[in-house]
Amino acid sequence: MLNFDLQLPSRIHFGKGKIGELGKEILQYGTRVLLVYGGGSIKQSGLYDQVVQVFKDNGIDYEELAGVKPNPRISSVRKGIAICKDKNSQLVLAVGGGSSIDCAKIIAAGAKHEGDAWDFFTRKARINEALPLGTILTLAATGSEMNGNAVISNEATMEKKGTGSSYLIPRFSILDPEYTYTVPPEQTAAGTVDIMSHVFEQYFSPTPGTYIQDRMSEAMLKTCIHYAPIAMAEPQNYEARANLMWTGCLALNGLLSAGKRTDWATHDIEHEISALYDITHGLGLAILTPYWMRHVLDEHTAVRLSEYARQVWGISENDNMTAARLAIKQTASFFKSLGLAASLKEIGVENIRLEEMAQKAVSSRELGAFKPLHYQDVLEILQAAYEGAEL
Ligand code: NZQ
Ligand code: ZN
Repeated sequence: MLNFDLQLPSRIHFGKGKIGELGKEILQYGTRVLLVYGGGSIKQSGLYDQVVQVFKDNGIDYEELAGVKPNPRISSVRKGIAICKDKNSQLVLAVGGGSSIDCAKIIAAGAKHEGDAWDFFTRKARINEALPLGTILTLAATGSEMNGNAVISNEATMEKKGTGSSYLIPRFSILDPEYTYTVPPEQTAAGTVDIMSHVFEQYFSPTPGTYIQDRMSEAMLKTCIHYAPIAMAEPQNYEARANLMWTGCLALNGLLSAGKRTDWATHDIEHEISALYDITHGLGLAILTPYWMRHVLDEHTAVRLSEYARQVWGISENDNMTAARLAIKQTASFFKSLGLAASLKEIGVENIRLEEMAQKAVSSRELGAFKPLHYQDVLEILQAAYEGAEL
């Protein structure tokens, strides 16, 4: 295990009725709030009205940035920053999934920055300050509710890039599993795959001696495999929604990555796909992950992949290579059983753009830690995923 420093500063209010904490939380930071949300799901569910009632009851003035799209755009971020600067906002409150939260994070940082917010993603500027941020989560997926990461798309340059800073970590997040009852099956499935992928990116690591992180990872994977089908069949099953919500939060809050090198190649490749095709992040991951696993499988990586087979899928095969191959197939068929597509061509990705995506994926960073990937590797993964090739 490697040395590490870890601070988890978000206060999590988890459970039914926890919106009761919202007024008190906001008033710690001020009375002028920018409310950030997506395309209307919070209005349909009634959550919007509940939030506005809390504002009224506590004398909180608010402005709104509505209509944040999945794969949130830098143009929305810029609009939010302009409102914050104009109205002298004291807190940004995101209500929604990872897209609204990520958008709110960069608004919070941009409100304290003179230049353009896209500079945070091109590394032209560093995040040295941000407005306080709170979240009310409505979709179990990204873990953005307890981490300092944000991923934003630039519609002008067709890029999707991530950044991270401790200044972006929410001060508080309200996690009421009942708010996820209205999440449609395809988003429940994609969100679950995203959670599992976050675990994979940290579990498949070259760092030895991380027994505790590895066992926690396996528990999270098993939780997703157990509860996703239940949440899809019974959207109002509290136990299933609660377990998925807490797993999503734990999977990317720093606990699993502490003390080890992490991979993130599948995420980096997926971001190139959703930059060009605006697809759901978790769906892209579901298609890519089994092909990434298949591509990195060799005598050396089979040790960990077979551990995954035995601990998560209960595969009793003794030979590591055989066990690993069986686990890869199980992974793919589990994603398929959630109703997710299994090839890039099914979701409208074009063959002629695979080289461009592979090129972009390797252009600005070293890809992969479990097994380093180069241009040809990425292209082969994309080609196999495009065809939905035999695993
Ligand atoms: O926009 P609304 O109307 O709210 O609808 C959303 C959206 O259409 C809907 N939804 C959310 N909660 C709902 C609901 N519908 C009904 N009932 C509810 N309770 O679901 C759709 C997807 O929402 P979105 O916020 O885009 O989903 P998600 O949470 O999966 O976020 C995806 C974004 O986060 C980034 C992804 O790349 C993508 O841009 N990521 C952020 C990370 C982070 N900050 O740590 C890490 C991830 O790896 C990921 O890259
Ligand atoms: Zn993700």
